[in-house]
Amino acid sequence: MKDDREKRRLKAAVIGLGIGMAHVAGYLKSEDVELYAVCDLIPQRLSCVGGTFESGSMLCLRPLFSPDVLGKRWEEIGVKVSRSYEEILNDPEVDIISICTPDYLHHEHLRSAMRHKKHIMLEKPVSINLEDTESLKEEIADYERQICIGYEFRVNPVIKRLKEYVDRGELGVLQAFSLYHFRTPFRRDKWNQWIQKREFSGGLVIEETCHWFDLARYITGKEIDSVHCVTASGVHDDFDFEDIAYIQGTYEGRGIFQISHALTGFDFSLQITIHGSKGTLWAGLKEQSYSSLDNGATDYYGIVSKGVPGGLPTDAIIETFGEEAAEPWNIQEMVVEFCHDVVEGTPVRASYDDGIDSLRIAVAALRSADVLGESS
Ligand SMILES: NC(=O)c1ccc[n+]([C@@H]2O[C@H](COP(=O)([O-])OP(=O)(O)OC[C@H]3O[C@@H](n4cnc5c(N)ncnc54)[C@H](O)[C@@H]3O)[C@@H](O)[C@H]2O)c1
Repeated sequence: MKDDREKRRLKAAVIGLGIGMAHVAGYLKSEDVELYAVCDLIPQRLSCVGGTFESGSMLCLRPLFSPDVLGKRWEEIGVKVSRSYEEILNDPEVDIISICTPDYLHHEHLRSAMRHKKHIMLEKPVSINLEDTESLKEEIADYERQICIGYEFRVNPVIKRLKEYVDRGELGVLQAFSLYHFRTPFRRDKWNQWIQKREFSGGLVIEETCHWFDLARYITGKEIDSVHCVTASGVHDDFDFEDIAYIQGTYEGRGIFQISHALTGFDFSLQITIHGSKGTLWAGLKEQSYSSLDNGATDYYGIVSKGVPGGLPTDAIIETFGEEAAEPWNIQEMVVEFCHDVVEGTPVRASYDDGIDSLRIAVAALRSADVLGESS
């Protein structure tokens, strides 16, 4: 005899098994939803759970899987396999779709999933073309299923703590938000090298700085009303877009922000500073416990430090975070929370409108840097 929760268990499918493998981990962890099918075009990725983990980009996702599923054929764990997105969409058993295909396909894949009335977890960016998204706004407003955008930093414990401080008013009047991201170039082992061409990925600012525009809005609760960007390129010549972007702007009403984003690193650092009239927050995130940037002196993944302007370092309130602050765990958690929101009918973590807002800022930034053609 099934209990109530079991009776209303919905079924999910993941399309695209690169980062989509972290979505798989989310559905496998969810108590609300069951993983029903996976879909990709690459046979190796369809061969088994973690078929992407031999080398390269997706190795970092391996810890999300327990040994009893890792390496098993999908069928062995009761998951259907398909090479056809259409087949998955036409399957009435599928209630929820994670769209984890390359950026330039998001809009088309979102529209077809909407035609089939699925709940949708869409990876960022919502599209690489702003006009596409504006044209869909009304349909989205009337859509009777849930759509969530893959802005998983919103569930990162470090980001949650920053937002709690801000929401409790502990910083006083917000004056400024600053984010610094130093990282290695995008991995070159993507399907058909889509990420290396602006035509397919939107370039650095649309592909990834969209995360940081989202955090600049989400943590502060303020809207950005002006943006200016300068870019530099010529480091990674096989990428046809900016390697580095420096972006500044203002918030509606009061406040300024700046973002520094570079693909020229040899390690990973994400730092956020938030300045208020009564308090200052400093946060750092690493990709793994070892970092060359502090000579291996720390083993945490994330840190939040809160002080007062002009205060003493010894008076700061400091908190550190473990592996749960790393991105793969955040993506898994975002999916788990999405499943819960679908079942309970509660608001999703990041809406389609949030996706449009960060894309709009990205496009405005690139226009100010004069690197986009007329059609963008
Ligand atoms: N939220 C995050 O932090 C985060 C992190 C990494 C990637 N992403 C996003 O996830 C998406 C995928 O990126 P990735 O790094 O996994 O790329 P990838 O190239 O490794 O994987 C994409 C997969 O999609 C498959 N695919 C393409 N067209 C398809 C189709 N029509 N039907 C079925 N499968 C198809 C490809 O075979 C490939 O395996 C991108 O939009 C990227 O921006 C988000």
